[in-house]
Amino acid sequence: MEKMWAGRFSKALDKKADDFNSSIATDCRMYRQDITGSMAHAAMLGKQGIITREESEKIIEGLSQILADIDEGKLEIDMEAEDIHMFVESVLTKRLGDLGKKLHTARSRNDQVALDIRLYLRDEADEIIALIKNLISAILCQAKEHKTTIMPGYTHLQRAQPITFAHQLLAYGMMLSRDIARISDAVRRMNVSPIGSCALAGTTYDTDRYFEAQKLGFDDIALNSIDGVSDRDFCLELMSAFAIVMMHLSRFSEEIILWSSWEFKFIELDDSFTTGSSIMPQKKNPDMAELVRGKTGRVYGDLFTLLTTLKGIPLAYNKDMQEDKEAMFDSVDTVKLCLDIFAPMVQTMRAIPENMYNAAGRGFINATDLADYLVKKGMPFRSAYKVVGELVAECIEKNTVLDQLPLSDYRCHSELFDEDLYTEISLETCVEKRISAGGTGLASIEKQIEYLAKIVG
Ligand code: ARG
Repeated sequence: MEKMWAGRFSKALDKKADDFNSSIATDCRMYRQDITGSMAHAAMLGKQGIITREESEKIIEGLSQILADIDEGKLEIDMEAEDIHMFVESVLTKRLGDLGKKLHTARSRNDQVALDIRLYLRDEADEIIALIKNLISAILCQAKEHKTTIMPGYTHLQRAQPITFAHQLLAYGMMLSRDIARISDAVRRMNVSPIGSCALAGTTYDTDRYFEAQKLGFDDIALNSIDGVSDRDFCLELMSAFAIVMMHLSRFSEEIILWSSWEFKFIELDDSFTTGSSIMPQKKNPDMAELVRGKTGRVYGDLFTLLTTLKGIPLAYNKDMQEDKEAMFDSVDTVKLCLDIFAPMVQTMRAIPENMYNAAGRGFINATDLADYLVKKGMPFRSAYKVVGELVAECIEKNTVLDQLPLSDYRCHSELFDEDLYTEISLETCVEKRISAGGTGLASIEKQIEYLAKIVG
């Protein structure tokens, strides 16, 4: 296929160089955004009298036909084309003759690609937000069922204080709600139109960039045309937000993996989201969670690929920037894939409250509450802390737990101990009495559920 820019050259491009240079295999997926952008451009050219109204209408009609033909599989995207922009224009010219050649007036592929990526990411960001909402909904289902299911809460992976399963799950819900906010915020900054920046310096034609921006649903235009074609910070912001989503999913995965091990057995993943082993008949592996944890590295890598691509290039457009799309698409695809599997995996997992409760009953998880018991009876916290430390040591020595140590033993440490200490340090009391805002008590859990339910809508 002859290149559009062949006029300046006396020799055809080497086949290998041609293949190396081509980005169609990657950017073909932006055909819809490319054509939509071109339709707005043609409308602007017509409105401004740069081409006639009739020409503008014919070009728009031709473009919408191309879009329909690709959608319906009647037109195959030619992998010999240099990129999606060249492909669409060449089909238009084949179909409309010289008129097709007028589309690229007052435009460059540099502003065109910057536009297409924004339109593409805007659509994908909407989908990703919807997927995060699905996951939050799955979390809410489990949380509603387990508002009072007691489990050990951990710090340093050591049993720390009793919490509810709902409380732990809702923590992920909160993180994911901020992921939505982060993505929405990045989209708001991205929603600025670069089209009309042209190659870099603007144009001598009397264009109306605001008209095009408005037609394409942008809030504003890039005020500096060099910036408009040069930067990809909007991609970086979204890819950072996606990397953070993956970090959250990865931590959640790690817990799901731990919780489904025989050492914990706090949950049982549904058979439809687990796999067996080829050799060990007893195995039921949490492969989905492990893969999500594993794929997190890719999304971090995608972010670093683009950061590194951009760091050394001068303004304005450089071909290096063609590399943006592979990393960006991989980041988008991976985060979507992971969210899509995660929601039903969480939705179908089954908690095993007995095991959680038993684990909470060991490990002196109520030691803080015992210290607080003394404090409420008048002992300063540091002294109470010391007494309870000694009691824990005594229990370990006698191979018992605080709940079962006789009152007489308690009294040897402090006269303040009474029969009521046993209800005070029961797991149920420890959880119910944590009434501080955001804590593990029931009223707080209900508030958290309500908050997240509003976000999911
Ligand atoms: N395929 C190119 C890209 O993705 C389009 C822009 C090309 N512009 C240029 N001046 N070569 O970046």
